[in-house]
Amino acid sequence: MFAERTNWNLAGNRLSEALARHRAGGKRLFDLTASNPTECSFAYDSETILAALRNPAALRYEPNPKGLESARLAVTEYYSARSAAISADDIVLMTSTSEAYSFAFRLLCNPGDELLIPAPSYPLFAFLADIQDVKLVRYPLVYDHGWQIDFHSLQQAITPRTRGVIVVNPNNPTGHFVKEQELAKLNELCTAREMALIADEVFLDFALGDARPVSFAGNTGALTFAMSGLSKIAGLPQMKMAWLITSGPQRLKKQALERLEVIADTYLSPNAPVQLATPVFLEQRHGFQKQVMERVRKNLTELDRQLAAQRTCVRLELEGGWYAVLRVPVVQTDEELAISLLDAKDVYIHPGHYFDFAGDGYLVLSLIAREEEFAEGIARVLLASEEKKKI
Ligand SMILES: Cc1ncc(COP(=O)(O)O)c(C=O)c1O
Repeated sequence: MFAERTNWNLAGNRLSEALARHRAGGKRLFDLTASNPTECSFAYDSETILAALRNPAALRYEPNPKGLESARLAVTEYYSARSAAISADDIVLMTSTSEAYSFAFRLLCNPGDELLIPAPSYPLFAFLADIQDVKLVRYPLVYDHGWQIDFHSLQQAITPRTRGVIVVNPNNPTGHFVKEQELAKLNELCTAREMALIADEVFLDFALGDARPVSFAGNTGALTFAMSGLSKIAGLPQMKMAWLITSGPQRLKKQALERLEVIADTYLSPNAPVQLATPVFLEQRHGFQKQVMERVRKNLTELDRQLAAQRTCVRLELEGGWYAVLRVPVVQTDEELAISLLDAKDVYIHPGHYFDFAGDGYLVLSLIAREEEFAEGIARVLLASEEKKKI
């Protein structure tokens, strides 16, 4: 009855079952995975946000495949504040970066074609690829006092069916940015092998250092699709507004935009009230990002303070984003560890294997969790690691 591509194993995994049991038992939970910004006690200017949705212009239907010009112009202003000159003509609006990935996959890949994805990285790719009949091939990121792309392995992963390279900048959950030299190498490789670059920059604004990270938006070396959206930038995932920016050699860029426009015209997915409110929502990012960076810095300081008092676990270096990676002793699989932390210590934390780490011994935690919950959750994780070491 159903297509092969939807033949997923939909049974819950052991950790999600343990979490459901925990919640059903009404027990206390220290949630170190909390990353829904609307549930992390940030202050939003609710009056301004709601007022922006009451624009009378929303009563008119003005279909535009790329999205309303006023919203696209607001996106160009977001980039000009980062000193990137992006034309509104090169932007296509959509409802989420997941949709942006889907459009880019559809544009580039025939069924069975391949895309390179970083490992470790974030777990949504598998479903996106299945739905679009695309095959994902991993290229490793290597850690040595910071993360970088393993270019040798990336090159070896390329086959005649490879249509593009996906980069997440900064990556989730490793929190590292693509460097200038890496961008140059990616441009060179993609141009030589006729591949596109697909860059997910939803966390670009959340850098911990002073240096401004490199952005792929407007990159002209190879055909490039840079995506971002309000979900992380302004902490408004419920508003469903994201964009895809096409750039690269003129001829390829023009063809890509013409085809993307047809895909976008087929769906016309962003709604009028949210498009009209996008300039206001983008303005809201300043207050939101300030709060997030304060939270991330405080939680990192607390994490480092607790780590300094023990010798069992270490945190991997990070440059930005909302997550930190903890290296823990390998005495069981990461999934078993996460389940035991839930059962014995009431802490919910993501095991590294969710993010495709090369081996066990990694836990991923959200740095935007509420401060008290974060501090107590970390204390419990570290206590459990000490106890396990003694066994
Ligand atoms: C790296 C990355 N890209 C994209 C998304 C999804 O964003 P959107 O809500 O725009 O689909 C997430 C969500 O966590 C993410 O971590």
